[in-house]
Parts: sequence; C-alpha cells; structure tokens
Amino acid sequence: MQPDSSLWSEHLKHPIFSLIGSIADQAGQPCYVIGGYVRDIFLKRPSKDIDIVTLGSGINLATTLSKQLGKGAYLSVFKNFGTAQVKYRNLEIEFVGARKESYSRDSRKPVVENGTLSDDQNRRDFTINALAICLNKEHFGELIDPFGGLSDLGNKTIRTPLNPDITFSDDPLRMMRAIRFSTQLGFHIEENTLNAITRNAERINIISKERIIDELNKIMASEKPSTGYLLLNKCQLLKLIFPELDALKGVETKDGKGHKDNFFHTLQVLDNVAARTDNIWLRWAALLHDIAKPITKRYDEKIGWTFHNHNFVGEKMIPSIFRKMKLPLNEKMKYVQKLVGLHMRPIILAEDTVTDSAVRRLLFDAGDDIEDLMLLCEADITSKNREKVARFRDNFQLVRTKLKEIEEKDRIRNMQPPISGEEIMAIFNLPPCSQVGTIKSAIKDAILDGIIPNEKEAAYQFMLDFARSRQIPVVNPLPEYTDSPPKGS
Ligand code: CTP
Repeated sequence: MQPDSSLWSEHLKHPIFSLIGSIADQAGQPCYVIGGYVRDIFLKRPSKDIDIVTLGSGINLATTLSKQLGKGAYLSVFKNFGTAQVKYRNLEIEFVGARKESYSRDSRKPVVENGTLSDDQNRRDFTINALAICLNKEHFGELIDPFGGLSDLGNKTIRTPLNPDITFSDDPLRMMRAIRFSTQLGFHIEENTLNAITRNAERINIISKERIIDELNKIMASEKPSTGYLLLNKCQLLKLIFPELDALKGVETKDGKGHKDNFFHTLQVLDNVAARTDNIWLRWAALLHDIAKPITKRYDEKIGWTFHNHNFVGEKMIPSIFRKMKLPLNEKMKYVQKLVGLHMRPIILAEDTVTDSAVRRLLFDAGDDIEDLMLLCEADITSKNREKVARFRDNFQLVRTKLKEIEEKDRIRNMQPPISGEEIMAIFNLPPCSQVGTIKSAIKDAILDGIIPNEKEAAYQFMLDFARSRQIPVVNPLPEYTDSPPKGS
C-alpha cells in the first residue's frame, strides 16, 4: 500500500521535477529522485541538492535538461564517472545511471556496472537514504521504498538496507555517516547496524582524513555533539580516528584520591558551549581544552592529582593534531590554540581577588576573543557541587563587570603600543636591539599594571624616566612633549 503521497507531492510541484520527468519520458528512460533529497522532504529539512537516478544515461538527461533550461543553467559532465550536474538558480541537480557496485577489500573505489533501480537502492548506505520517487509521467510521485525507509524515518532509526557487514566493509565511511546522521537527526542506530560498526571499525583506516574530518565537523555542528563522540567511543572508532581524545578516558585512584574522567568532562564542556554558540571553532576549543591532561598528569602525595601547565602543553599540541586530522592550519587553528592556552586564566582570576591589573592583562592577551574565552570558561565549570558552581558563577560575573569597566576606561582589548619600536629607536638613536624591546615591554607593563593610563604622553614621560634610570640618553626628544623637558635628558 502506498503511504499518503500528500507528504511529498507538494515538493514535486516544483516545475523542475515534471520537466525532468518529461525529458526522461522522451528518452524512454525510467527516472527517479533519490537519496538525501527524498529523506529531507520527510524530515522537513530544506535541501538544494537533488540526486536523480535513471535507467540509462544520466549524462544524456542532464545535457537535454540544461539545453531546455537555457540561460542560467550550467552543465558539468564527468565522463569518467558517468555522471553530470546541472546548476540552475539555487538548485544543484546530479544525474547518474542506476548502478550495481562491487568493492575490493582495500579500497572504497567500487567496480561499477549498469544496474536496475533495485540494484541502485541496494548499494545505498541506509534505508532512509534509499527512498526513491518516480518522475516519469505515468508513475509521477510514486514512492519506491523497498527497505521500509519511511517507517525508519518515523521510528528515527538508522539501519543499512542489506547485511551491515557488507554495507560498511564496502564503504567504511558509512560508519562515520551512521554516527553523524544519528547525532544530527537524533536517530538511534539499530542494534545489528551498531554491532557491525564495532566489528568493522578497523576498516576506517582506508578512509582519507579529509572525509573523516568532514563527518566530524558535521558532528561538531550538531545540537548535541557529545552524542557522536559517545557513539564513536562505543563502536571503537574513537581510538582509531582521534587517539588524543580517547586518551582522556578513565579515572585513576591513588591513596583513595581519584580525579574526574576527563573524557566525560570534555564532552560536557563541549555540549555546554554548543548550547550557547554555533561557532564551530569555539566548539573545537572546548573539545581540545584539556587535551594535554593525560600527558601532564602527576600524582603528588600532598595535593593529589595535578595537571600542571596542561593549558600550555595543550596549546602546543594543537598544530600537530590539526595537521594530522586535516583541519585548517590557519587563523582558525591559532584561535583554538589561543583559547586552549588561556582557558585557565579567568578561572584562576575568579578564584582569587579580581584585581584590575589581572583583568587588564587578561584583556590584553585575549583581545577580541575575550567573550569567547569567558564562554568557554563558564562552560568548563561542570562540578556537581552546587555551592561551588554558584561561587564561580558570581565570580565570573564580577570578572565580566570588571572587564567591561576596564575596557571602557583603558581600551586594552586591541591595545597598540602607544610608542612604536621605530619611535623608540629614533628617540634614543638605537639600532634594532633587545634594549628597544625592554623599553617597549616596560611601557606595556606600566599600562597593564595601571601605573600609567593608556595614553601617548603618559607613556612618553614614563619612558623617559625608565630610560634615565638605565642611563640611556635621549638623542631626539619628541617635540610635541618637550615643553617641560624632563631633567637629565
Ligand atoms: N551514499 C551512500 N554511501 C555514501 C555516501 C552516499 O550510499 N558513503 C548515498 C546515499 O543514498 C545518500 C546519497 O548517496 O543519500 C547522497 O549522498 P550525499 O549527498 O553525500 O549525502 P546525503 O545523504 O544527501 O546527506 P548530506 O548532504 O547530509 O551528507
């Protein structure tokens, strides 16, 4: 029995579908819209990528479609793959002939032969991705659902159409896709399918890092990314694709003293951050903030477990993790590094008396990323002790108030040195040397410590005093501040 077609017929009213159908009729080719686009109709997720499968040449249909659409349609043909794409307005329509595939053990590149629609549906990853809707006039709008994909959509289930061991072994990327769909859509992975992922986990090694990171980034962008990492862990994939994260797992106890499980803590921080921002790089910073805890872990008889400098060591680990995982080695990485390196600062500040100078230094080091850093630090408080959490919350509030006050007063966030290195060299007639750096740092420290305001004249006068104390003579004083030349210059 056909389910109620009003569920999807509305979508098929888009004229592109009847046009493709009539082109296919003229060519005598059965033709279907299939895969993610059909799935997303039922999930009410807007999608612009339409996959069309036909019995016969997909290139042929695409070429005719592009001609009929005329201006504004862009055709790309991939002869080697037997596929073609038409871009038209905001749509991307992919055409492919129905296929039957077989795989060899050491590659995910299949040997492809022409096949029937049923062959094509069999070779797809999940039942929910194997739904097809006919576009030919005679059967327009008919749903072909051989594996119960529609009912799996209703039950929120990820399941492979065939024996999952074959589906995953053919293309091990699908193990990542199963976990990604489960995280993105809030679906559960059917038991047989889940067990097959565990059995085939090692096969992930034939998948390129680029494809794995694509899936991980989709997990990271989901509402609750921890779901994905917990599944990766459960199926034994985590240690293969992300050993550094896997190493956070576990609790050690000595003399009755334990430490928290840093894996579960990290996932909680990640979810806390994800609840407050879509910024994927801030989410990466959350995932990596404690990444150096396993290698910095020590046991001290007096104070118990310590993770000294795990923030700085973590900051240093990030480039190699990014390189290995094919994450971008650009300003995004630098941003993650910065947040990981600084993530202890607001907490230390909030634990202690919140002095103006500590707040100024924090503002100076964090710059424009101060808000993100505060968000990360607030997310990092995962203690079950309510009193402790409330104390931290209050202290963070105080830090935030001070940050605002001090920024308004001293404009530290993007502070440029009030006197440049070139000016220092000219005033004291110095070549580029360490003395120039020392003078520059002295001015910066004086501003951050609140000894002088962040203003050029104050910095100039401070610099002259500093130089005098070190017997560095002024050769070319700045004329604008020489009304009352300081003594000894
Ligand atoms: N597919 C598959 N195995 C893969 C990748 C894709 O069987 N490893 C099939 C599925 O039927 C899928 C279709 O190809 O629906 C299109 O794949 P793709 O565009 O990569 O993904 P979508 O399922 O559309 O989902 P998303 O865009 O979220 O990745």
